[in-house]
Amino acid sequence: MHTSNADLMTPVKLTGKYGGFSSACLGGNRILKYLILATITLTCTFVYFIYDNHTSAERVDKIHAFDASPSVSQEHEHPIGKLIRYAQAEQGRLLSRQSHDLSTAVIRYQERRGRRPPPDFNAWFDYAQKHDAIIVEEFFDRIYDDLNPFWTLEPRELRRRSGPWAHEHVISVRNRKAILKTTHADPMGRMPQWHRVVEELAQWLPDVDLPVNVMDESRLLVPWKEINERVRKEAAERRVVPPSEVRTEFTGLPALDAEPEDGPYDVRWIGEGSYWDLLRQTCPPDSPSRNIPPIDIYHDAIDMPIAYPRHSFSGYVQNWTLSKDSCQHPHLRSLHGTFIEPVSINTTQSLIPLFGGCKLRQNNDILFPPAMYLSTEELYAGRGDRGPDWTQKKDGVVWRGVASGGRNKAETWTHFHRHRYVQMLNGTAVHESETGSLPAEGTTFKLPTQGHYSLVAPRNGSLGGWLSTVTDVAFTRLECFPLPPTSADEKLCPYTNPYFEVRPPIPMHAQYGFKYLPDVDGNSYSGRFRAFLHDSGSVVLKATLYDEWHDSRLMPWLHFVPLDNTFIDVYGILQFFLAAEDNGVHEKLAERIAREGRVWADKVLRRADMALYMWRLILEFARLCDDRRDVLGWIDDLHS
Ligand SMILES: *[C@@H]1O[C@H](CO)[C@@H](O)[C@H](O)[C@H]1NC(C)=O
Ligand SMILES: *[C@@H]1O[C@H](CO)[C@@H](O)[C@H](O)[C@H]1NC(C)=O
Ligand SMILES: *[C@@H]1O[C@H](CO)[C@@H](O)[C@H](O)[C@H]1NC(C)=O
Ligand SMILES: *[C@@H]1O[C@H](CO)[C@@H](O)[C@H](O)[C@H]1NC(C)=O
Repeated sequence: MHTSNADLMTPVKLTGKYGGFSSACLGGNRILKYLILATITLTCTFVYFIYDNHTSAERVDKIHAFDASPSVSQEHEHPIGKLIRYAQAEQGRLLSRQSHDLSTAVIRYQERRGRRPPPDFNAWFDYAQKHDAIIVEEFFDRIYDDLNPFWTLEPRELRRRSGPWAHEHVISVRNRKAILKTTHADPMGRMPQWHRVVEELAQWLPDVDLPVNVMDESRLLVPWKEINERVRKEAAERRVVPPSEVRTEFTGLPALDAEPEDGPYDVRWIGEGSYWDLLRQTCPPDSPSRNIPPIDIYHDAIDMPIAYPRHSFSGYVQNWTLSKDSCQHPHLRSLHGTFIEPVSINTTQSLIPLFGGCKLRQNNDILFPPAMYLSTEELYAGRGDRGPDWTQKKDGVVWRGVASGGRNKAETWTHFHRHRYVQMLNGTAVHESETGSLPAEGTTFKLPTQGHYSLVAPRNGSLGGWLSTVTDVAFTRLECFPLPPTSADEKLCPYTNPYFEVRPPIPMHAQYGFKYLPDVDGNSYSGRFRAFLHDSGSVVLKATLYDEWHDSRLMPWLHFVPLDNTFIDVYGILQFFLAAEDNGVHEKLAERIAREGRVWADKVLRRADMALYMWRLILEFARLCDDRRDVLGWIDDLHS
């Protein structure tokens, strides 16, 4: 959520969870205002990667483009072309707000956060400069969206809710040493990844306790009324403390084994039931999903809208934040494993601090960069080598993965997002759907309404035929539940066998040999996204319901191509890039997205960037837990 009070006036922005993130969204008329700034930015350092390879005529067009937000129609231009131009302008605007020195960083911090930066902010900024990090205050919005509600809990209460006595997995800092304390299994080995980063930074960190979620699934769902009140209260109480009142030293925490005076906080964990039912209680009362019950998974058919998605721009995602908002899209309850049957549920409606790698927009978990992005394991990171040059890549779409996403069963699998996604990119299945021969009980999707997306093929009934020539998308394992008898091939599954062909995995570096790499959620977020952006040099087509630490620093349509969570837009997108008879103009756009995604990931998704994010988050969280938090801050010597 943004800190300006103006943002609090409109109902949709009332809660932290529903606030801004506008770095990844379209901003309407603000563009005009930034015309000049953005134009200046064009001439600065980034010009080489955003605008190389262009004729001067195109360049003129780019400059005019800054007053053309997608709502201002330009004749004959494809909506995707507009969205791409818009994203470039928006990025220029953001980069014009980069802080190159500490005093600018402090000013921008105060403008946006309404407080003084936390103590030791200067050491943080030094490290950022030493590592050539791009510091734009907006890139850290996520931290404040996540933490703001916690300002309404007393520091003592927060400490009580966050220490090792209250959690199974905690990373603590005491006297500049990082301590890992886990009392339960961490089967995926996630804690050591996070611990290592905190260890690297510990010499600069205050005492703190960071309880961490090691499950795939996100955890906290505080009902709307409570969170809304907390966010309002926090916003009303925020202030920039006068210099004379500022204290620059953290108080520090007692030894790890000292239990809180009030005794451990007793959390009521919920381990079963409908995740959708818990989720919709976090939705604003007037939002479309609030009063929509979960589907009856054993009887209800899939409920997939076939016209343009709500809030889209002629069918394509224009506000990435909004497109992922389950409160705005009730049909998602029937179209994503998270809302059908997660592998595990362990959630609570209490506001407690819990750090983790991803969350739904409605969750109150606090985001860390996911452990998989800190790992060098080949499954997530590839071999670390880069994909081939664009011209060496195949003109197609490749994907391999397991049928995860939750616990799919004979009666429910057609509601699972990965099954839908694999089927929608399977030319044979699409062709069967076009001709009416795909059996209803094996169908996960619907094709777009006639006339939508101007698809070339549906006019002559061969979308599936065309698709078969460009996609190689398949499961590597069908993840049956219950598991088939041991005599059977464990990769197969009796109820999905007729509809899916299991194919051997393709290693990441071989996938980089294709121009288009779709990336979809598994049990929660997908751990491959960073490697895809950082290493592949291909266009990443991204669909997700989950928020991650990097959301405010990645620009849809500039660094990757966003997909709606129904995937209804995927044919329009693939045809735009792969089937246009335009002498390769659209293909050039694809090449540019691939290039910019990679160049940008090299600047803002590095390990150092993730460390800086965690460092800033830890400073903020340590301040929140400090009895003197209202006056704690960094202040430069001249003013103290
Ligand atoms: C995008 O959607 C979010 C969530 O509803 C909203 O807060 C934000 O203002 C939207 N951005 C723009 C530019 O409309
Ligand atoms: C849920 O998580 C809490 C805290 O992490 C733990 O104490 C509890 O045993 C878990 N419940 C289940 C059913 O796993
Ligand atoms: C369908 O349209 C595509 C694109 O115009 C064309 O290449 C293909 O030959 C057509 N197929 C049939 C069966 O008419
Ligand atoms: C594609 O769909 C057809 C028809 O439903 C099915 O037989 C085939 O196994 C599917 N292929 C893959 C790769 O899933």
